[in-house]
Amino acid sequence: MSGPIPLIVAIDGPAASGKSTVAKAVAAALGCVFVNSGGMYRAFTWWVLQKGIRPDDTAAVLDLLAATRFSCGEENGVGTVSVGGTRMTRTEMASTEVNANVSVIAAIPEVRDRLVAEQRRYAERGGVVMEGRDIGSVVFPDTPFKFYIDASPEVRERRRRSEGITDSIARRDRIDSSRAASPLVVPPDALVVDSSDLTVDEVVERVLAAVRNRRMTP
Ligand code: DC
Repeated sequence: MSGPIPLIVAIDGPAASGKSTVAKAVAAALGCVFVNSGGMYRAFTWWVLQKGIRPDDTAAVLDLLAATRFSCGEENGVGTVSVGGTRMTRTEMASTEVNANVSVIAAIPEVRDRLVAEQRRYAERGGVVMEGRDIGSVVFPDTPFKFYIDASPEVRERRRRSEGITDSIARRDRIDSSRAASPLVVPPDALVVDSSDLTVDEVVERVLAAVRNRRMTP
């Protein structure tokens, strides 16, 4: 006999829109695992750079992809990722080099196929709140719980600067939105929340209220 269908909450949005902070809080409130799918693309980008491969050398990146083992799990309700046996830390994943190259790596369809398979595996294990660029549009298109967290470019630049992180947000957004494979889009049935003038708690409350309302809808 199969168990209840796990809750899947998809949260997409551009860089530094606050979706990660929001998704983490929503996951904790719902008792779901929080997964930052961008972390997987960042982890593989780090691995590519670590191996001395140029991110635009697609043939070499694909050879490395074929030879790489990913291990995606969970610790204290938060998704973890190991690449080639190395467990990624936040510092590695948010480095300036990774920020500058991750969009190029994430535009490669074969890389996406591999990581999307890992992402879908989380939902086989239980409830999940996953954030990224294509979670509602490609990874879990059937979930009714889709959100798109936005913020003005000025607010997003300011947020990144206040974190002390060097990140060319506008460039990443341009590549992420214009690539052929699974570009950043607003899923037609997503609830769009502009977080520019809202606190984190206010955004979290809106998402939770929408999840609870839809759950009550037959
Ligand atoms: O969410 P983030 O900024 O950490 O994501 C890093 C990069 O990974 C982002 O610029 C594009 C890519 N990404 C993606 O292509 N698809 C996702 N679902 C998540 C991230």
